[in-house]
Amino acid sequence: MFNVGIIGTGSIATKMAEAIKELRGACVYAVASRDLDRAKAFVKKNCPKAKPVGSYEEFAYMDELDLIYVATPNTYHYENALTCIKAGKNVLIEKPFTMSRAEADSIFTEAKNRGVFVCEAMWTAFMPLHKTMLKWVREGKIGSVRYISSNLGYNIENVKRLTDPALGGGAYLDLGVYTTHLAVSILGENIEPKSVYARKLSNGIDRDVTYILGPQGDGAISSSYVTMSSLTDRDGAIVGEKGYIKLFNINNYERIELHDDTGALVEAYDQEGLSGYSLEVKGCKDAIENGLIQCPEMPWNRTAAICSINDRIRSMM
Ligand SMILES: NC(=O)c1ccc[n+]([C@@H]2O[C@H](COP(=O)([O-])OP(=O)(O)OC[C@H]3O[C@@H](n4cnc5c(N)ncnc54)[C@H](OP(=O)(O)O)[C@@H]3O)[C@@H](O)[C@H]2O)c1
Repeated sequence: MFNVGIIGTGSIATKMAEAIKELRGACVYAVASRDLDRAKAFVKKNCPKAKPVGSYEEFAYMDELDLIYVATPNTYHYENALTCIKAGKNVLIEKPFTMSRAEADSIFTEAKNRGVFVCEAMWTAFMPLHKTMLKWVREGKIGSVRYISSNLGYNIENVKRLTDPALGGGAYLDLGVYTTHLAVSILGENIEPKSVYARKLSNGIDRDVTYILGPQGDGAISSSYVTMSSLTDRDGAIVGEKGYIKLFNINNYERIELHDDTGALVEAYDQEGLSGYSLEVKGCKDAIENGLIQCPEMPWNRTAAICSINDRIRSMM
């Protein structure tokens, strides 16, 4: 059995506990909270066989854990993940991976020195429709890529962690990392922000951000809009010289379509099977069981590139 531990007892931890039930050969072995009673309540409700633990530090040293999923607020990922890595534990860290590229580099250095597995929980990267879309691009089905568009928005302005600077709030860090991941996975790691337009709340937190990424000099660009104040259609498109790909819900792929240069539909697939959360844990399990310290689906250099872009975008807001 592949034993997963969860740090944090909030909303995504609840979804992950549910998702792990879909996976054969894996279970939630233990859950850590800063408060033992909260850990007990979480376990009772979501995974009754798991052990509740009332300290993150104690949890990191539990020998039975094969992977620890860090599901705490953005500003705590670095500290919580390092505690686990220093205890020799493999970690799956929620997005945004860290608050800066410097923190990300320090995690990778510690993990590499200890031979410990680390992965950013960019669950879209593990979905079959994302992989098929990348295959279409690689095989030249739309020719050379010229332009990517994507949007991601939810009405979540009332969620505390999104509007609290101390918890790393803001639409970009919450949602922009998905649109940036899409751009980096297609255009590569050497893209940078060309322009950023952010509208902010009175405490300085970005409520919505419109931004363009591209390479130095000439080349394909990506344009994105992310917001915490409205539900958007969450769609994306990749435009090439010989056709285009439509993505339905870039945050949780529902369907992808390949169109030729007349606009005719050539091929399409709908999402089926395991959820993205289950697939990312399965991806980690497979990588760890194969002796890897990175997931092929979400390698460190992609996470590092996203962290650099995050730093630049936040400095340009
Ligand atoms: N992949 C996705 O689809 C997805 C979706 C939503 C969120 N996320 C990411 O997951 C992370 C957690 O988000 P969430 O929505 O689950 O947040 P949440 O509901 O606020 O839960 C966060 C948990 O972290 C723990 N925590 C540790 N230090 C804390 C502090 N100072 N303040 C508040 N909580 C603290 C708490 O557990 P204890 O008190 O029990 O220790 C809390 O329950 C964020 O980084 C977010 O970006 C990912």
